[in-house]
Order: sequence, then C-alpha cells, then structure tokens
Amino acid sequence: MSNKSSKPEPDKKIDDLIILEDEDLIFLEEEETEESPVRGIGNTWAILIVDDDPSVHQATKLALKNLEFEGKGIEFIYAYSGAEAKKVLHSNPDIALALLDVVMETNDAGLEVVRYIREDLNNRKVQIILRTGQPGEAPEESVIINYEINDYKLKIDLTRQKLVTTTIAALRAYQNIATIERQTEELAHALQLLQDTQLQLVQNEKMAMLGNWAAGVAHEINNPVGFIRGNISAAQEHLQDLLTAISLYGEHSNLPDEIVEKLEDLELEFIAEDFPKLIGSMEEGCDIIRNISTSLRTFSRTDTANKTKFNLHDGIDNTLLILKYRLQANEKRPAIKIIKNYGNIPEVKCYPGQLNQVFMNVFANGIDALDESNGDKSFEEIEKEPNQITIETEFSADKQSVILKIADNGMGMPEELKARVFEQGFTTKGVGKGTGLGMAIAHQIVIEKHSGKIRCDSTVGAGTTFTIVIPR
Ligand SMILES: Nc1ncnc2c1ncn2[C@@H]1O[C@H](COP(=O)(O)OP(=O)(O)O)[C@@H](O)[C@H]1O
Ligand SMILES: [Mg+2]
Repeated sequence: MSNKSSKPEPDKKIDDLIILEDEDLIFLEEEETEESPVRGIGNTWAILIVDDDPSVHQATKLALKNLEFEGKGIEFIYAYSGAEAKKVLHSNPDIALALLDVVMETNDAGLEVVRYIREDLNNRKVQIILRTGQPGEAPEESVIINYEINDYKLKIDLTRQKLVTTTIAALRAYQNIATIERQTEELAHALQLLQDTQLQLVQNEKMAMLGNWAAGVAHEINNPVGFIRGNISAAQEHLQDLLTAISLYGEHSNLPDEIVEKLEDLELEFIAEDFPKLIGSMEEGCDIIRNISTSLRTFSRTDTANKTKFNLHDGIDNTLLILKYRLQANEKRPAIKIIKNYGNIPEVKCYPGQLNQVFMNVFANGIDALDESNGDKSFEEIEKEPNQITIETEFSADKQSVILKIADNGMGMPEELKARVFEQGFTTKGVGKGTGLGMAIAHQIVIEKHSGKIRCDSTVGAGTTFTIVIPR
C-alpha cells in the first residue's frame, strides 16, 4: 500500500546530499528490485517518507529497503508535499516513523505536518525525524520540544550507515511506546478487575455480617418465644380451673338471681369451647416463629473451620423457607409449585452454611428464570401450566455420595449460554439485577470446598436442571 501520487523520475540525478560514501554510491546503482510482495502493516514497519524531491525518496528507499528489525521488514509510504503527508498520516495510523523534509510547498510545511501529527491526530507514537537540506532550515528549539520531534538531521549528515542506525533507533523507540501503551491498557484492565474483586470482597463481608446479625436475631427471638409458648399451656390450665370453679359455684350454691343472670350473659359455655382454639392458634404462631428462627440460624451458619454432619434436606427446607416471599403468589402469577421427591439420604460431612448458599443461588436463579419465562402470560395461562421447581435427592448407587437435582420449568438456555453459566461475572440480567456471581460461587463451593460435582442441563423453552453431587 504505497501512496505514490507523483512518481519519482528514475533518471533524475540521485541527491548526493544523502548518500556520500563510495560503497553507498555503488549500492545506489544497483537495479531497483520490485517491491516485495504483499506486506501488510502489522508484519512490517511502515515508514513514511515526505520530501518534495523524488530522488530523496529513492535514495532513502534504497538505503533502507533490506532492513529488518525484530524480524519485520520495511514498508514505504510516500508523500511529496506537506498536504499529501497529512492525508496519508490521517488514513494510516500505524506509521512507525516519518522521515520529514522541512521546506516543501512552504518554508515550514514539514513543521506544520509535525503539528498536525501531534495536535490534530493526537498521535504521540509515530517517531518523527526531520531532515533538512540546509543548516539554516533547522527548526527552533521550542518547536522541537513542543512538537516532540524525535530527531533532527541534516541531509548532508545522512550516510547510509547513519540512516540505518537512526531508523533502527526510531523503530525501537516506536516499539517501546507501543509496548508501554499495550501494558498500560492491560494494567487498566487489571485495575478494573481488582476493583470489581474488591467490591465482591466488600459484598462478602457484608454477607458475613448479615449472617451473624441474622443468627443473633434468631437467637434473641428464641427466648421470648419460649416464654410465650411455655406460659400458654399454664394459662390454659388456669383458665380451665377457673371455669370449673365457676360452674361448681353455679351448681351448688344459692346465688342471687342477679349473679346467675350475669353469668348467663357471659356465655361461659362459649368461652369454654372457644378458648382452647384460641390458645391453639397462639401456639401455632409460636411454632412458626420458632421455625423461622431455626431456619435463620441454620442458614446463616458462617462455618468455615470444620466440616460437620448435616442433613441436606434441612438445608433445602430452610432455604426455601427464607425464599418463601419470592415463591408465594403475587399480582402477576400464582405461587411457584415446589415438588419435593426426597430420597433416603444420609447426613453428609460438609460446610452447611456454604451449601445453603449454593441452594439459595440455584433457587434464586430458578425463580428468576420462571419469572422471565412468564413474560406477558396472564395469571390464568400460568395457572394452567404452573411454574414449578422440582427437588430430587438420592443416595448414589455406590453409597459414596448424595445426588441433588434442582429443576425449574423456566425458559431454559441455549448451548452457548449454558457453556458460560459458571463463569464469574457472566450474567444475562440487567444492571442491578444480576451480578454473575451466583453460579461461580456455587461452582467454587461444590468443586473446591466439597470435592463434589455440579452440572447444568438445559433445554430452551423447557427448563433447566442443576445436578449437584456431594461426597458423604
Ligand atoms: N435456572 C436457570 N435458567 C436459565 N438461565 C439460568 C439459570 N441459572 C442461571 N442462568 C443463567 O446463568 C447466568 C449466571 O447466573 P448467576 O451466576 O447466578 O448470575 P446472575 O443470576 O447474577 O445473572 C444468569 O444470568 C442466567 O443467564
Ligand atoms: Mg443468580
């Protein structure tokens, strides 16, 4: 891709200002070979020669054409005026070196090109070497400093040897800048990753804190609930005694009519019948609060020190209890059906809190998938084909592990998405909804912390099944 607009006249006397030494003159007289075949930028160093004198182009090219640096050859691009150079530079951002004449269509056309490169194109990478015919054409010091000109040579000083040395030095500088640019980009990327990780750590910290808090609250709730539960039966007994006493009075003493009437108004029989029911529902309420408290405590176990024996069914049940508010019916859909096919499984040695986290993440994704698959379907339509999550557990045939299958009948995933489910940071959910961490964490907990297995099977439109295997 050479930009030759005005062809150099080959028979024009070679400018002896550039190549002075005898051997070089001989070199110059060699037949000019055809340009080497297809060399794209990327495999070659692109050097731009800007000079209004075609013979300078030819001499430069002859001097440098066989040059190789870091295994890459040279590709020349030509411009014969400042204006042309600008166009070429604009469309070739990969030029490594510009050998630039100063005096062309104007006395400082070359300097204008330099300004264009550094200011308009904001290109700090390309190396610029100014070449002037006369010492008097040297740019002012301020220009060299301000425009980041990398070198300044008198054409008269440039023997072939020196031109080669200067070019190599420039290409090396260009390569260094390119490397630094690349590394800076990689560093910026790494920094971003680090910041994300930090965020995640803060998040984990928060989770642990919430876990401790929940466990604390659960513990605190237990005592007062215990009082109430204990006193309810005592209250019931007392009341029963009182009622008996009252009825005995009524039967055996001659009470004044007033009191007999009053007792009739009080409908003691109704109280006697209704009160135990009332007490019963109070007891039920207490039991519910107790269950929630136990679930919170089990769920928020922040165990990392020792594995303990744990019944996975308890973990699943507790997790479902905590997710109850997401499973129950809302204005868009009926409640999600939970189908439990629990097998006869032994307790497993594990970190219960961590496995609860896995169940939580898998269930949460299932609920998300169901909500998404519902789309615009009406309440009634969903009722006909209800949203459901099926949980199956079994003891492996070799009795070495427990197998859990958690399946939803949500929208499923295509193959390419399924392949990335466990990838950290991979999410298809909107900002603020998905973090892409849930399955990555589940994977880490099952594989690394429990030497287990986790697999995802999915069919678009039919649903997704996660299979988890935990060794006993
Ligand atoms: N049960 C499922 N049904 C359909 N897609 C799922 C299911 N579970 C996970 N995925 C897909 O895997 C992605 C990663 O899940 P996850 O790591 O939990 O991150 P997040 O839920 O924050 O997006 C989800 O964004 C979703 O595209
Ligand atoms: Mg998730």
